[in-house]
Amino acid sequence: MDKFHIVGPSRLVGRVRASGAKNAALPALAATLLPDGEPLTLHRVPGVRDIRTMMRLLDHLGIASEESEGGVVFRRDRPNADHDAPYDVVKTMRASVLVLGPLLARFGHARVSLPGGCAIGVRPIDQHLKGLEALGAEVHLSHGYVEATASQLRGARFRFDMPTVTGTENVLMAACLAKGTTVLENCAREPEIVDLANLLNTIGARISGAGEETIVIDGVDGLGGGEHTIIPDRIEGGTYLIGAALTRGDVTLEGSSPADLAPLLDKLAEAGAKVETTESGIRVTASDGLQGCDLDTAPHPGFPTDLQAQWMALMTSADGVSTIRETIFENRFQHAPELMRMGADVRVDGGSARIYGARRLTGAAVMATDLRASACLVLAGVAADGETVVDRIYHLERGYEGMELKLQSLGARVARWVV
Ligand code: EPU
Repeated sequence: MDKFHIVGPSRLVGRVRASGAKNAALPALAATLLPDGEPLTLHRVPGVRDIRTMMRLLDHLGIASEESEGGVVFRRDRPNADHDAPYDVVKTMRASVLVLGPLLARFGHARVSLPGGCAIGVRPIDQHLKGLEALGAEVHLSHGYVEATASQLRGARFRFDMPTVTGTENVLMAACLAKGTTVLENCAREPEIVDLANLLNTIGARISGAGEETIVIDGVDGLGGGEHTIIPDRIEGGTYLIGAALTRGDVTLEGSSPADLAPLLDKLAEAGAKVETTESGIRVTASDGLQGCDLDTAPHPGFPTDLQAQWMALMTSADGVSTIRETIFENRFQHAPELMRMGADVRVDGGSARIYGARRLTGAAVMATDLRASACLVLAGVAADGETVVDRIYHLERGYEGMELKLQSLGARVARWVV
């Protein structure tokens, strides 16, 4: 298991570019199951482990992928492949469940393992299943698997009980090939959903309203091939901007959308960081005197849960006491005890954490527990005095492409220890 060895403190200074968004690329890859036969080329697919896992699953489902001219071409090469997502894959990556909607819509049948719990919460998929049932699918659970069948999905009106990102994506993809019009209400509004809808419309779908609460899909008989470029990863980019503030540095994020990052940029400004948006990128600079401020995580356009851990690292350095309320996942403060080993003062009470700030962090051996917790600990290590070793960075590799290289280019002293 590789580790990161970090010697701090360093100021992060320079320019950085986000890779393609993991959480936009995953549904885009699942969407490669939908075309009738023509190839679908995706650009800016990030080189992270979750994407490699999804490619292996697609291979099992009969979709071959091949790199070409900066893109990856996906093409159905085995028409008689299985239509199942086995437990071994789904348990390593819950987003595998995204193949359910496309398989069902395209082949009339899908068998996908139930994901089970995960490090950050229970994470049920009842909304995915209810949405597909509303479109006429018969859904059974047996032996740990979801079995869904429908000879022809039919357009319907369906309201999600809560905004769910992958739930919206799954039902959206299925509805593209349903007969008639589907109206989905209380949809998640994340930029990754807009990116998926743009991709689907490029290959012939008829979707309007993505990014709003209500999405309308006019079903079509079939989808073709085409090309699409994945949006930059706002969570990865946001992680480097928080790093800039935490290390009182000066980082410009190139090529990312300020609108997609607005919830973070507003909070950074409220804490006293300087945020400038120009043609050349989003620049965050900070000096001493950052103020602690309170936040609740919320579905987009609220503050993303995927930046909460990194934000907590920042708040350890700000003046005063700040509170974070995590409203999306019930167990997403596992970075707190690790930060405390580095000298932070964080008190967790259920879904809330209070951070007593103005702490000078000191390097320590810490353990990563999930993807974003890992990013939090790496940033803390860059800001802390002395040596930090972050163990289990395989979590980090699920979603951050070349993080040590990007941090090095910004002046951090981070090395990978291959164990
Ligand atoms: N929920 C249900 N039933 C469902 C679906 C969701 O109760 O059928 C609940 C969840 O338990 C949670 C809330 O609804 O409390 C929202 O969960 P959501 O479904 O939106 O999460 P997700 O689709 O499983 C995606 C991202 C996560 C990100 C969340 C929230 C992907 C592949 N994953 O997960 O990303 O945290 O949305 O924004 O898009 C990460 O990248 O580190 C990560 C965990």
